[in-house]
Amino acid sequence: MFDLAIIGGGPGGYVAAERAGAKGLKVVLFEKRELGGVCLNEGCIPTKTLLYSAKVYDYTKHADLYGVSVEGSSFDFGKIVARKEKVVKKLVGGVKAGVKAAKAEIVMGEAVIKGRGAEGIEITCGDKEYSARNLLICTGSEAAVPPFPGLKEAGDVIVTNREILALKEQPKELVIIGGGVIGMEFASFFNSIGTKVTVVEMLPKILGPLDDEISQMLQGIYAKRGVEFCLKCKVTAIEGNTVVYEDPEGKVCRVSGDKILVSVGRRANLKGFGLENIGVELALNPAGRPYGIKVDDHMRTNIPGVYAAGDVTGFSMLAHTASREGEVAINNIAGQEDRMRYNAIPGVVYTNPEVAGVGITEAEAKAKGLDVEVVKLPMAYSGRFVAENEKGEGLCKVIVGKKYKEVLGVHMLGNPCSEMIHAACIAIEQEMTVAQLKEVVFPHPTVSEIFKETIFTVK
Ligand code: NAI
Repeated sequence: MFDLAIIGGGPGGYVAAERAGAKGLKVVLFEKRELGGVCLNEGCIPTKTLLYSAKVYDYTKHADLYGVSVEGSSFDFGKIVARKEKVVKKLVGGVKAGVKAAKAEIVMGEAVIKGRGAEGIEITCGDKEYSARNLLICTGSEAAVPPFPGLKEAGDVIVTNREILALKEQPKELVIIGGGVIGMEFASFFNSIGTKVTVVEMLPKILGPLDDEISQMLQGIYAKRGVEFCLKCKVTAIEGNTVVYEDPEGKVCRVSGDKILVSVGRRANLKGFGLENIGVELALNPAGRPYGIKVDDHMRTNIPGVYAAGDVTGFSMLAHTASREGEVAINNIAGQEDRMRYNAIPGVVYTNPEVAGVGITEAEAKAKGLDVEVVKLPMAYSGRFVAENEKGEGLCKVIVGKKYKEVLGVHMLGNPCSEMIHAACIAIEQEMTVAQLKEVVFPHPTVSEIFKETIFTVK
């Protein structure tokens, strides 16, 4: 009998296993593919590894701007991919070691929930049976691929985030359906290494939930580098290696590539592991379709002892959300009350330059009728940014409540904002005010000082 069974070894499940083990719980963790889940194997880590190779290559292309001559720089696609595989393997090994160190039992196989017995929740995996007092479901998500007419016939021309990472050869032309996070990160990588990239996006902007101004700046940067954007364009069909779409005037247009990446969102994995056998309630969208497991802020489902965390809740599909949700579940299972909060979850897009944001955007504040002040500064106000970014564009925007001057949102464009945004996360999580932040000493010279400089422009 285990205290806790966890299904799914991604950043929701493996972090939960480590935390639970550290609290002395007897844990079994089931994983049917690879430990680390989508994040480590076909998401965050492999893409960031590829993007770093692209960044190094980009530096060599523009080294002259820094007074350095690099002649004839080139790259080897096979070697870039091989390095990505090496990094993934190393980190998957690290996760395994971490879970084992927490004394959790790892079972590689497909777990199925059988129901609730006298002893607890019963699970089978292969021909073995397990029972546990508590269950944490972290089965994640997979790429949502709409049934475009002609999609099946297109065969392996169509790729998702999974297959594109396994390509052996660089595509000469890539069409990306969906200008969201996955679309833009791959657009960035392939644009850097010379693939002709076209992004077909249904909305009037790329990276929908992002600050409007930053989204436009980023689009402008990539348009200058040769990425073609077809906005307000709805894909209607696939014809072999051609994407058919309607432009904003309703005209039927076509664009071809040797690969077509479908990155139009992800779907929670709710089927195939016996969820129905214990009657777990699903959350429904306004159209009445299930999009995830319904949980409360303790990450509890409607069934006592059954919790869910990560993409399977269909709510905030980010690795760092999953890990925190897993921690919340474990704390509650161990008897320490903890609540999940979503107001200070950062979002980062690892393009070059990077984008990072946390809290509300200007558009959200307006839509909610909040009384806010919006202040902003170009990144060039930071000496370190100027020293390290020839012709670099960037922006820091801060949204504060007018009455209490509390920080409500921070949005940045410019490197290395992925490594700076946590300061804003702390400010929002701790409900810090402008006056409190002004007293914090930031190291000089760092790009992070831009946050403090921007805070000083609040009236
Ligand atoms: P997304 O939701 O970010 O973007 C999908 C885009 O596709 C949207 O802009 C949408 O308007 C567009 N779209 C939908 N249907 C379309 C159609 N028929 N024609 C043209 N455009 C269409 O989803 P994405 O990029 O697939 O990412 C999935 C999840 O993975 C997200 O939740 C994201 O947060 C997460 N992720 C996070 C990363 C990060 O934190 N850096 C990196 C990669 C993924």
